[in-house]
Amino acid sequence: MNEVSKNNVFDKSLFGQNFKWGVSTSAYQIEGAHDTGGKGNSIWDKFSEEKGRINNGHHGKITCDFYNRFEDDLKLIKELNIPNFRFSISWSRILPKGIGDVNQEGIDYYNKIIDSCIEKGIEPWITLYHWDLPHELEAKGGWTNRKIIYWFTEYVEICAHAFGDRVKHWMVLNEPMVFTGAGYFLGVHAPGKKGLSNFLPALHHAVLAQAQGIRVLKSIVANAEVGTTISCSHIEPYDSNLRNSLAAKRIDILVNRMFLEPLLGRGYPIIHKKLTAKLNKYILPGDEILMKADFDFIGIQNYTREIVKHSWYTPFLKAKIISADKRSVPITAMNWEIYPESIYNVLKQFGSYAEIKKIIITENGAAFNDTVVDEKVEDFHRKEFLENYLQQVLRARKEGVCVEGYFVWSLLDNFEWSEGFYPRFGIVHVDFETQKRTIKASGAWFKEFLK
Ligand code: BGC
Repeated sequence: MNEVSKNNVFDKSLFGQNFKWGVSTSAYQIEGAHDTGGKGNSIWDKFSEEKGRINNGHHGKITCDFYNRFEDDLKLIKELNIPNFRFSISWSRILPKGIGDVNQEGIDYYNKIIDSCIEKGIEPWITLYHWDLPHELEAKGGWTNRKIIYWFTEYVEICAHAFGDRVKHWMVLNEPMVFTGAGYFLGVHAPGKKGLSNFLPALHHAVLAQAQGIRVLKSIVANAEVGTTISCSHIEPYDSNLRNSLAAKRIDILVNRMFLEPLLGRGYPIIHKKLTAKLNKYILPGDEILMKADFDFIGIQNYTREIVKHSWYTPFLKAKIISADKRSVPITAMNWEIYPESIYNVLKQFGSYAEIKKIIITENGAAFNDTVVDEKVEDFHRKEFLENYLQQVLRARKEGVCVEGYFVWSLLDNFEWSEGFYPRFGIVHVDFETQKRTIKASGAWFKEFLK
């Protein structure tokens, strides 16, 4: 049964006064201005120039032009009654070469955003790394080079000193399993590298950077609330067959536990002994301690669930994901199953770790083929999606899970990585020809919900 508040509506009051409501974005997906303001190239600038990498040859050179329009977009956030804004810093705006000379124009730009947020009563939440590594660092091996821990430390220190007097909510990495998996194993995201010999060092160095970033922020920023974000999906076996159940367990480790458990001090969970032996080659004495850090919250990013079958053909994992369009289930434009209970299940799973004291849903949302008709976007399916997922968040909260915030992905339709501009995730529609913004029905609903 649907939950309703005293006023007979499903609104924010059901979640309690201190629950954090917000909206999420990331630099490369919205900023544009790819070569303006002293910015260096990132791996996504380079990757989108390579033929065949992005659907329809799209790129993020302009995207939502947030770089020039942030003032108006922040006004929109205010108009929508959204009290918290999550955005990411582009490393190559701050350090065009990744290390060394600091670009003051980059610092000034983010200062303007932060100050404008505060002036409007919007709390800024910063993600330090949302996938746009400076290209010059990739030329030195990027995440496969252990030196990245020092490069990242330098970058985090600069941001902490520059913005930490006003920004108190920080996330170190955005979905490390996605940027290491898609970028260094499958080669479908920047920098387009493939195979275990790239993936395993990238994974281990990202695990170390995740903990290091938390330590650096905690040591520099007074009263900071520091966390990191993890892409999580509820994983289920295809049926009760034992082989399929074991395959689902292995996918669950890879998707949900690989970046979390080392941070908690539990070390790497084991998928397959031989894979662990390969990973161990990159682990130096003392790393187990360095992988752990004292964080304040875990950011959960959930969209869907995955159904898993045993497969002889996938090395070590011996598992395959059955795509949603093969299962006759409702799907979004990303071919992800619409399954609200997924968010409840991952909340229960993450909430069961004693070390986790606070969970924030740092992303949840859906892509649909929205169109503007008579200056309106009637995306009632997105409204329904958000409402149904939120019902499940509330259910978990009522059962005692420490979930204390929810951020919609995303404010604006934007550059959806290798998918280009086709999947629209925004609660605000963007016409990429004219840059006109139109609040969608889902945005109007969220505004009312938050009133
Ligand atoms: C990422 C976003 C992305 C969204 C939808 C998350 O994996 O953090 O950058 O746009 O999901 O795919």
